[in-house]
Amino acid sequence: MTYNPPSDVMIYDTTLRDGEQTPGVTITTDEKIIVAEKLDKLGVDVIELGFPAASPGEQQTFKEVAKLGLDAQISGLARSLTQDIDKAIDSDADYIHTFIGTSPLHRDYKLKMSKEEILEKAVSGVEYVKDHGITAEFSCEDATRTELDYLKEVFGAVQDAKVDKINVPDTVGVTIPIKMNELIANLKEVIHVPISVHCHNDFGLAVANTLAGIEAGAKQAQCTINGLGERAGNASLEEIVMALHKAYNINTNINTKLLYSTSETVSRISGVKMPPNKAIIGENAFAHEAGIHVQGVLEKSETYEAFKPEEVGHTRRIVLGKLTGANAIKSKLEEYDINLEDEQFDQLFQKVKALGDSGKTITDVDFRSLAESIQGKPTEEKVKLLGISVMTGDHVLPTASVKLDLDGEIKSCAHIGVGPVDAALSAIQSLIKELVDITLEEYHIEAITGGTNALGEVIVKTGDEQGNKVTGRSTDEDIVKASVEAIISSVNKLLMLRK
Ligand code: KIV
Ligand code: ZN
Repeated sequence: MTYNPPSDVMIYDTTLRDGEQTPGVTITTDEKIIVAEKLDKLGVDVIELGFPAASPGEQQTFKEVAKLGLDAQISGLARSLTQDIDKAIDSDADYIHTFIGTSPLHRDYKLKMSKEEILEKAVSGVEYVKDHGITAEFSCEDATRTELDYLKEVFGAVQDAKVDKINVPDTVGVTIPIKMNELIANLKEVIHVPISVHCHNDFGLAVANTLAGIEAGAKQAQCTINGLGERAGNASLEEIVMALHKAYNINTNINTKLLYSTSETVSRISGVKMPPNKAIIGENAFAHEAGIHVQGVLEKSETYEAFKPEEVGHTRRIVLGKLTGANAIKSKLEEYDINLEDEQFDQLFQKVKALGDSGKTITDVDFRSLAESIQGKPTEEKVKLLGISVMTGDHVLPTASVKLDLDGEIKSCAHIGVGPVDAALSAIQSLIKELVDITLEEYHIEAITGGTNALGEVIVKTGDEQGNKVTGRSTDEDIVKASVEAIISSVNKLLMLRK
């Protein structure tokens, strides 16, 4: 295992070439321009924009991007063939990356060429690029399955042909970190131009293999935003860069604060959504639920975060659920400037736990609505809901039975209505008629977040025979229960106002 990393690593981004090879992804010229501008702002050294020989549209993209005068070099991929290289030259690429397969599998089954013929093509391709005064990078495709002596011979020959960089692809993602490290250390014995690594993620080792190559002295990482690429993808740019900066103390030119927004743009344009637990840019990358973690993070973020979310343009999220502790709730209440009495706080805490136990994740909007409905509850509750059950359906008269505690006296009754909420309202009206005669003036219901288990928020406006008018509000997964609670909350307010 060799540890001789450079102090700075160049980032060669191939989102718009290998990333576009993600099954099902195609990126138009206009979209490539948007992403190229983002990558340039991000600070990548080279943007591999595409494969000019693939189509006239691809050549047009190169011409359009060349006019933008970006700081990054714009590279075009080409097979080690003059017709491919010509297309890249004609497209105004200022950097050409040629490649040819060198492993026995590629020689015997794909190219059906001898070692000598392949070496000759590799060299003539690089010479052709250099004769045109263009920066040349060369790859032995399937390098990690190529015999070491032959690999050294091919790379040595293109080096003699004045190649500017050589790239070592693990085309099928089959290597492991220790082997990549040894390979780069071995190549460094004969290669004196900068060495680059290009790793695929078939075993989920693309980033680890890239870093192992850098540890042995590779000076460039070929990678993609969000790890897009053929099959299981390429090494993810954001993971490599943050590991280099934070774990290795190695610099790149990347402005890390733009990583999250660049990832979002690429995800939107490619249509490839990132899993929530994706490192660095996933929605959960800085989300904390467990009470102990939340307490730690709120005191000092380093307790449970490798680095601050702001460093990559992301945000921290405190997620509420069954593992939530009181500190998380206090911090959220502060964030929304909601003051609760101790008893109200306990009610909210129990409600959050109960919802968490039922498998629900409580979003920020859910939480706010819950907290505000508890805050808005009257302090004195003469009427308390003890139970509710409803029956409804096709060819059935909607019926609700309600059980209330009326200032210490337990009463219940059942009523029918046009729907379950109407039936419940009638039942409540008849149970409380000796205390107050209420009319429902307005009723609003809203599903706060999407999905069938979304919390429903109900706001009602009720009035009494003395002309008092109040609102009541409640939030629950069960909309009938939320409706009944909102009505009862309003009844308690009316009772407090009555002369
Ligand atoms: O994976 C690979 O081998 C490639 C080459 C074209 C560099 O993408
Ligand atoms: Zn590749």
